[in-house]
Amino acid sequence: MQTQVLVVGSANADLVVATQRRPAGGETVLGGDTRTLPGGKGANTAVAAARLGADVALLGAVGDDGHGRLLLDSLRGAGVRTGLVRVVDRPTGVAYITVTPDGENAILVSPGANQEVEPSAVDAALPGAGVLVASMEIPLPTVEHAVTAAAEAGVRTVLNLSPVAKVAGATLAALDVLLVNEHEAAWLLGAESADPAGLLELGPRSAVVTRGPRGAVVVTAEGLTEVPSPEVEAVDTTGAGDAFAGALATGIARGAALADAVRTAVRVAAISVTRHGAQPSYPAASELE
Ligand code: RIB
Ligand code: NA
Repeated sequence: MQTQVLVVGSANADLVVATQRRPAGGETVLGGDTRTLPGGKGANTAVAAARLGADVALLGAVGDDGHGRLLLDSLRGAGVRTGLVRVVDRPTGVAYITVTPDGENAILVSPGANQEVEPSAVDAALPGAGVLVASMEIPLPTVEHAVTAAAEAGVRTVLNLSPVAKVAGATLAALDVLLVNEHEAAWLLGAESADPAGLLELGPRSAVVTRGPRGAVVVTAEGLTEVPSPEVEAVDTTGAGDAFAGALATGIARGAALADAVRTAVRVAAISVTRHGAQPSYPAASELE
């Protein structure tokens, strides 16, 4: 079967606690009940794409534990193919997430099994793929190899450079789309310039900068296109960027123009922030009609 969207990235159990405020060093604060939800940037992206009806496979790794089973259930429930998710002898990745009343989250990730996603796993997965989407939280050499090998194999490439890190110039130059949020864009551009057009100087064919409630900006050689977001009541923004990445890749795989794919991705991300959690909050295609 043709994989429209091949996602290479992390899978984490999200342990989410609501708190009035975050503890400082040496301090203890009591929060609400722990909710355990399927997350991780790669798994989130895959689920978002599958909900929109794309044929999706995730290449990743989980542990042989309850968190791993939670993730595999969520992926399969959404229709993501999981044959490339290896079960390894390390604990499944965990994200410790605190959410304050203003809706802000702070996340500490223990990557665990995600550290075992190896570059060599990528090559066999590429034939037949339409679009590869990679994100961070897995070893950097795997991300870099996935992008460059995909480009060589004629597979279109999207990198959600989150959490932002220094990646090889050859990787950036192999990208069809560099996807970042405003903070990541600022980090990449340095203090001198806030002009998103500067992202193309790093090498990608195009760039997309997400701007939360203000939508996104598409950067191509032809110029900048601003895509506004519908106004929504946000309750939990965790994983909104991953939902955006999944929707964007789905649009590209279906042959949409980049700006049109971004328009849909902005709407998908806007819906996701109106509901709690990451994967559980992603809309089905029917909700976009
Ligand atoms: O982008 C949101 C995700 O970041 C969460 O689901 C958490 O697992 C961390 O990977
Ligand atoms: Na959400």
